[in-house]
Amino acid sequence: MPILPIVHYPEQVLLTVGKPVEEGEFDAELAQLVDSMFATMEHARGVGLAAPQVGVSRRLFVMDTPNGDESSERHVLINPEIVHVEGEQVGDEGCLSFPGLYQVVQREMRVIARAQNVKGEEFELDVRGLAARCILHETDHCDGIVFLDRMTPLKRQFAKRKIKTLQRTGKWN
Ligand code: NI
Repeated sequence: MPILPIVHYPEQVLLTVGKPVEEGEFDAELAQLVDSMFATMEHARGVGLAAPQVGVSRRLFVMDTPNGDESSERHVLINPEIVHVEGEQVGDEGCLSFPGLYQVVQREMRVIARAQNVKGEEFELDVRGLAARCILHETDHCDGIVFLDRMTPLKRQFAKRKIKTLQRTGKWN
């Protein structure tokens, strides 16, 4: 499977609301995009990757978050919807479109999400912790929202300064 180039902030596609995948588009081409996104995420050692991050303005993402044992939450969510959230978690977050930037972001602890798989079949996921953080982060990507937007104003200011430094020293590409 080809490794796709990952686009970095502030590319416009990252700030654009993705188009839903329509009935009739759950075809071989979509399955191939999903396979390539899994390969690209693994290659980059990420736990989540949304289509806008590979320059495709559509509502879908792949994830593979460790459960702390041998298993992981490995899924593709197409047309994801958050149907329930509760609790909160505060922790470091990163993003493949923000190379080298990690910042504290507050998210909900538990998420119930509804989505479609590559065949267009609906399913629901009920997850906590890292998987919940990942689903919220990646669903945001489908809505043109990046994790900068979820930081406190002070942390966002700090992050923007760090991005400028990384860009200036050529570490942003
Ligand atoms: Ni991201």
